[in-house]
Amino acid sequence: MSVTTLGVIGSGMVGLGVARRAVDAGLDVVLSNSRGPQTLAPLVAELGGRARAATPAAAARAAELVVAAVPLAARERLPRAELAGRTVIDLMNYAPHAGFELPELDRDELTSSELVQRHLAGARVVKALHNIGPKQLLELFRPAGAPDRTALPLSGDDPAAKKEVAGLLDVLGFDTVDLGPLADSWRSEPNTPLYALPYVGQPPSGLTVPEFVAWVQQAPGVPVSAARVGELAAAAVRGPAGFRR
Ligand SMILES: NC(=O)c1ccc[n+]([C@@H]2O[C@H](COP(=O)([O-])OP(=O)(O)OC[C@H]3O[C@@H](n4cnc5c(N)ncnc54)[C@H](OP(=O)(O)O)[C@@H]3O)[C@@H](O)[C@H]2O)c1
Repeated sequence: MSVTTLGVIGSGMVGLGVARRAVDAGLDVVLSNSRGPQTLAPLVAELGGRARAATPAAAARAAELVVAAVPLAARERLPRAELAGRTVIDLMNYAPHAGFELPELDRDELTSSELVQRHLAGARVVKALHNIGPKQLLELFRPAGAPDRTALPLSGDDPAAKKEVAGLLDVLGFDTVDLGPLADSWRSEPNTPLYALPYVGQPPSGLTVPEFVAWVQQAPGVPVSAARVGELAAAAVRGPAGFRR
């Protein structure tokens, strides 16, 4: 059975982008954030009748498939009990900064999604939607079979959960390429060729990191084929984890 309701935990730039795409594709969404459902009223009104707001725990209970779109630093506040038995799309990326460093990731012992799976021990974590920005997500969707349909990578340890997420992404307008287990998801993490840039093209040279981030947020989307995703994943070399600003 295909997904009809998507739970969204974290309704900032990315969570809201995914929710918008999902509503436009005909799904119901349950949005949540840290400050409470009442703070999401304007966004719910903007998204229309398919959207409602709830607490993170209630958003998790409301849907079989839940998107975790909070900062990685907040991963241990995801509602573990309510997410047990659910498929969770982990789109969080590691962005270390003073006061937030994760030694297992810095030593390349674990991928950030393996860390998330550790916390969400009863859930089926699938890494996806983490290497494309909301603007590009809202531009690059296409019907199945379109010659310029964009592909996104996904990784996970549970084949059925990966199939479920591939089904969702198909409904949202994207092909998928399976990169294997969560342990291999570093192939699409920050600092790899698959991360963000293929979907936006070449930035102007000489940008500072904040300028680069701002440029990516507004850059028009560039379609990326499944074959290209496979090539870029294969070309990845594991280096220091995390996007450092
Ligand atoms: N920005 C991008 O282009 C991009 C692309 C791909 C992936 N990502 C990843 O997506 C994630 C979100 O990024 P973003 O740019 O959307 O961040 P953002 O705009 O700062 O939004 C973060 C959201 O998470 C919520 N949140 C924080 N702690 C929470 C908690 N304990 N429980 C429930 N909700 C909580 C915040 O709610 P409150 O406002 O109520 O605190 C807010 O809605 C990050 O992990 C990032 O690495 C970002």
